[in-house]
Amino acid sequence: MSTNNESMGKTLGVVVGLCLVCAIVVSFASVQLRPMQQANKNEDIQRNILAVAGFDKVKNVSEIFNQNIESRVVSLKTGEFVEDVKAESFDFEATKFDAKRSYKLSKEEDKAGIQRITNNSPVYFAKDDQGKVSTIILPIQGYGLWGVMYGFLALEADGETIKSINFYKHSETPGLGGEIQNPKWTALWDGKALPIDVVKGSAGGNEHKVDGLSGATLTSNGVDHTVDFWTSDKAFGPFLAKVRKGALN
Ligand SMILES: Cc1cc2nc3c(=O)[nH]c(=O)nc-3n(C[C@H](O)[C@H](O)[C@H](O)COP(=O)(O)O)c2cc1C
Repeated sequence: MSTNNESMGKTLGVVVGLCLVCAIVVSFASVQLRPMQQANKNEDIQRNILAVAGFDKVKNVSEIFNQNIESRVVSLKTGEFVEDVKAESFDFEATKFDAKRSYKLSKEEDKAGIQRITNNSPVYFAKDDQGKVSTIILPIQGYGLWGVMYGFLALEADGETIKSINFYKHSETPGLGGEIQNPKWTALWDGKALPIDVVKGSAGGNEHKVDGLSGATLTSNGVDHTVDFWTSDKAFGPFLAKVRKGALN
């Protein structure tokens, strides 16, 4: 008995049909999962803000975040709070490429290697039992050796003393530059004061110096430049100047 099941047309039909079904399934899954991915991303950011503020290993992240952290937006030019931009929906990457809401940094200005900076940025506050600001959390980002490192710098309410630093996303080499995430290294920052230098070798007891990572001087330099940039006049400097004059409490 002869059948036509092995004809070229039928084989192609099956291949095209299968591809179409797979494409539909993948597109559907991608669209359906997008809100979940965004929610996970937001939760991860909140977890890192809580961690740098001293709320460690939190289980119910969004609940603890909403109870303990106030999110605001500041103008990086004036250091004033901006009321018509919401911190919750602030997308740094999208805003950075919108010419109306960001600008290009000159080579001399661009110490952190981020090319463009937004006009505004979110800042986060943790408060004490009396409702006074106890921790100021600044989002920071800058180029390491292999790519942009994203993190948070937590300061005491004086706007000068460092409480903590963490990095939640980077492309540095595990065991070398990747040690920026090692709690033993980030603990070295606690109690230091701005301006800060990440130095090769040991910082001794100098309050303005932190030991660089051994075997990862280039990443260490990137962290140094990142903190310098974000606490400078081009970024949170005007806001920190107001904080130091007692604008928060
Ligand atoms: C595969 C490879 C990956 C590296 N990754 C890093 C890194 O992530 N960060 C870094 O600063 N240096 C990294 N280095 C080392 C740098 O090239 C450079 O030697 C180092 O930063 C110098 O630091 P040191 O003076 O403390 O030894 C890497 C080197 C190699 C070969």
